[in-house]
Amino acid sequence: MCGIIGYIGNKQALPILINGLRRLEYRGYDSAGIAVIEEEKGVRSKEKIVRVKAIGKIDELAKKVVGKDLIGTIGIAHTRWATHGGVTEVNAHPHTGCTDDLVIVHNGIIENYRELKEKYLAGHEIKSQTDTEILAHLIELFYKGDLLSAVREALSQVRGTYGLVVMHASEPNRLVAARLGSPLVIGVGEGEYYIASDTSPMLAHTRNVIFLDDGEIADIGLNKFEIFNVASEKINKDVNHIDWDEAQAQLSGFPHFMLKEIFAQPTVMQDAVRGRYNLEEGTAHLGGINMTVEEMHKVKRVILLACGTASYAAMIGKYAFERLAGISTEVDVASEFRYRDPIIDENTLVFGISQSGETADTLAALREAKRKGAFVRGIVNVVGSTIARETDGGTYIHAGPELAVASTKAYTNMAAVLLLYALQFGRLNRVSLATGQRLLTELRAIPEKMKQILEQSEKIKVLAEKYKNYKDFFFLGRGINFPVALEGSLKLKEISYIHSEAYPGGEMKHGPIALLSPDFPVFAIMTKNQLYDKMRSNVEEIKARKAPIVLIATEGDESAKELANDVIFVPPTMELIEPLLNTLPLQLFAYHTAVLLGRDVDRPRNLAKSVTVE
Ligand code: M6R
Repeated sequence: MCGIIGYIGNKQALPILINGLRRLEYRGYDSAGIAVIEEEKGVRSKEKIVRVKAIGKIDELAKKVVGKDLIGTIGIAHTRWATHGGVTEVNAHPHTGCTDDLVIVHNGIIENYRELKEKYLAGHEIKSQTDTEILAHLIELFYKGDLLSAVREALSQVRGTYGLVVMHASEPNRLVAARLGSPLVIGVGEGEYYIASDTSPMLAHTRNVIFLDDGEIADIGLNKFEIFNVASEKINKDVNHIDWDEAQAQLSGFPHFMLKEIFAQPTVMQDAVRGRYNLEEGTAHLGGINMTVEEMHKVKRVILLACGTASYAAMIGKYAFERLAGISTEVDVASEFRYRDPIIDENTLVFGISQSGETADTLAALREAKRKGAFVRGIVNVVGSTIARETDGGTYIHAGPELAVASTKAYTNMAAVLLLYALQFGRLNRVSLATGQRLLTELRAIPEKMKQILEQSEKIKVLAEKYKNYKDFFFLGRGINFPVALEGSLKLKEISYIHSEAYPGGEMKHGPIALLSPDFPVFAIMTKNQLYDKMRSNVEEIKARKAPIVLIATEGDESAKELANDVIFVPPTMELIEPLLNTLPLQLFAYHTAVLLGRDVDRPRNLAKSVTVE
């Protein structure tokens, strides 16, 4: 979703901001803008803010800034993903008040913007349809020569969420930033500071960062900054060091981040499991669970909260927890969980699963679970993200930066970490040493087996060519492969815009089978596991309806070829681990199909990487 980057220091702000915006592109956006306090001969004497905005890609903005006087060492910039008001240049950030003296970039939603407008802004000329512009006018109204006080006063009137940065031409050595419900990070460089919605636009300059928490306001000057808490008290905050580096944010020879990330899975899978198990004892040891063995024994219920792809990884976790640990486990789509009356007690363990660690619904659901007394833990990719910091423990999945909007490597790593958690709990009661050791041995073999599947990428591209013009697809799986079907279907629709649906194989004859025809191809996951015969019967039913069939089958299952139009073979493994392999061909199929159809694979239309509003 919307992205923010601000800079204050002694370098030219423009290239830093434009490159920063490019690093934020992965979040999804439809317009962008930039504002710089203009200088003359190195002196900010004109006290003038120059603002440029464009709809469409950052390249459009970069073209528009050419020839403009954006010379200055302080500035703010923004990528907008439309919420209030359409995709227009006027609605793009930065916004101003009545004059151009004050500019603001803002992520989040000002819920009471209509009330604020009516109460305070009679006579103000409102130019856009956005809630953010109302905030700009409000700060302008309260401005009496001190930007910090004006921002504070304006925010005391606001209901909603924000991550915002403001600058004023009369105080040209100052940026004021505030956070409530929408992340902001300060990057601490050598005599310079960055402020952004995540660390990605600052990694090329500094890896020392400070995460703002809700209610905090930062007053950032040329060589100093101060942070104030919700009670306006000055506070000291730790500087964190981020391990991710700039190289991980490059394409490194791949045509798209999505393909790079699909191919990274063997490596990052090792990062997810390394050092987190003990083969001799046949168990995992994820210290982040932060519970005593006695507390772990008391867990009677596990709830996995997540959205989208993360929720499908959670479904794999459900099978693993129930089978290995014998603990009743539910997967809740976070956006639903927060609005029902979930039954939670002190014996409930809740995991929030999120790549970004910023998904608004997941965060809100976790807060609700915490309020109700559950143990709340995170399974998160982005280090220092809000979910990682707000949970009472948990585990990073170590997938590295995931920049394609469509999640791939985060999904398989989430599933791997959930398997380890399930084993850790399982070894407390019903899993034998031998089973634990077998599972870990198989898990260690997964990266090599993943590579064997990735080697089939060109073959899968041929399949994509064959099927790319069909309008509808089914994805079927049973048991632990049902979430694989869901994920395969989501990947296809997200990036190729082809309609697809996912069902458990046994559910087809309860309705969806009516849709089948020679124009409705079906991907079925029919690997050799305890449900193989059942799945096979379902596939026979499809064949009888003459729908084209593509099977994901276990190597050596020659009979699959007779049943299907096409088969993608995957190496055999233990049933619980199958999703870590079976998902890969479906990721590749979606990727190649989208490329062949000329889609914007890394930044599909209407989607944002990190959904930070409800
Ligand atoms: O950052 P999160 O894992 O919390 O994001 C959850 C979903 O928004 C995300 O998985 C989404 O479904 C992706 N577009 C999937 O490719």
